[in-house]
Amino acid sequence: MRIVVGITGGIAAYKAVNVVRSLVLAGHDVHVVPTAGALRFVGKPTLEAISRNPVTADLYDGVAEVRHVALGQSADLVIVAPATANFLARLAAGIADDLLGTTILASEAPVVVAPAMHTEMWRNPATVANLATLRSRGILVVGPEKGRLTGQDLGEGRMSEPDDIVEAALGAVATRDLAGKRIVVTAGGTREPLDPVRFLGNRSSGKQGVALAEAAALRGADVVLVAAHLEVPPPAGVRVEKVSTALELDEAARRHAASADVVVMAAAVADYRPASVSESKIKKDATGEGLALELVRNPDILTALAAERRPGQVIIGFAAETSDGPDDLLRLGREKIARKGADYLVLNRVGWSEGFATDGNAVVIVDAAGDIVAEAAGTKLEVAHRILDLLR
Ligand code: C5P
Repeated sequence: MRIVVGITGGIAAYKAVNVVRSLVLAGHDVHVVPTAGALRFVGKPTLEAISRNPVTADLYDGVAEVRHVALGQSADLVIVAPATANFLARLAAGIADDLLGTTILASEAPVVVAPAMHTEMWRNPATVANLATLRSRGILVVGPEKGRLTGQDLGEGRMSEPDDIVEAALGAVATRDLAGKRIVVTAGGTREPLDPVRFLGNRSSGKQGVALAEAAALRGADVVLVAAHLEVPPPAGVRVEKVSTALELDEAARRHAASADVVVMAAAVADYRPASVSESKIKKDATGEGLALELVRNPDILTALAAERRPGQVIIGFAAETSDGPDDLLRLGREKIARKGADYLVLNRVGWSEGFATDGNAVVIVDAAGDIVAEAAGTKLEVAHRILDLLR
């Protein structure tokens, strides 16, 4: 999603950096528009580095590309955090004498504001009336909370926490087309212990599975994330069950699948585990120059889930292949879905720089008959939404 984050001139501006960061990490294209006041609290280099996009606050920059309206027109969502009393007054009056003002006026996207100010300013009748005007126009107001303000003050007016702002804002734009569906998503890479300090693992970051859980929750689903080792935090609004080994993932996935409408197996499950786990650290002097490990097969969880599926339950698997090309990838995918019995298989090509641990992804989705039903490329969140579109 293309998101404009407006930052206005209050001390909570330093916390807005975390709003930007969360949105970027979730795969959004974030454009920060600070007011002149905001730039006295946080520097432009910080905002550019965190948003990964150029930042301008000047109405007269980029006139040739009509930036004062282009940003607003192309936005899917506008968030203003912190929103000062002054900014709320200007927004209520429709004043557009800076880039943030014109951007918002030129936008038809949902607008979310997170006010932050001292308690007296928050309670001032002018602010109260401005808030009522903004709400009546459909603007979503998040917070403020009661808590510590600048200086010694305690009271109402503290900006909501960045993650709460992000969650409320993303929730405001989401279509709730998966409301009532119970979805289990497995994500991350399993670890198979060799001894108390070593394991066999893989390079899965868990990002695609986490994006799927996040997208499903935003669309109203009741989501359980069975999380093997993740390199990113789990999203808000989902139940998380942590697991480590393939056998633990098997047990948790099957237990949750028993009451789920959809199971998405995005986890990278180890096919083999050590036949025995050493009670103590394996020592070099005891093993000599070489060390042969005996491995045994792990159960194929996807195959078992597909075989045990409840009537109407949809099972989605993933296939990460180092194929020779698109035809080869498709052939491998068709063979795999026939063997595993899933309803859909999401195919992506992995290599040293593709798929695993990257922020973007490109996939082809085949159905049980092996026909291509969708293709998607973009951020992992965008790809997640295309996968979930299959469930509508
Ligand atoms: O056979 P392969 O590992 O390529 O299949 C990938 C798909 O199967 C993924 O959806 C993965 O989560 C699932 N899988 C599984 N149990 C295994 C290995 C893979 O469920 N032991």
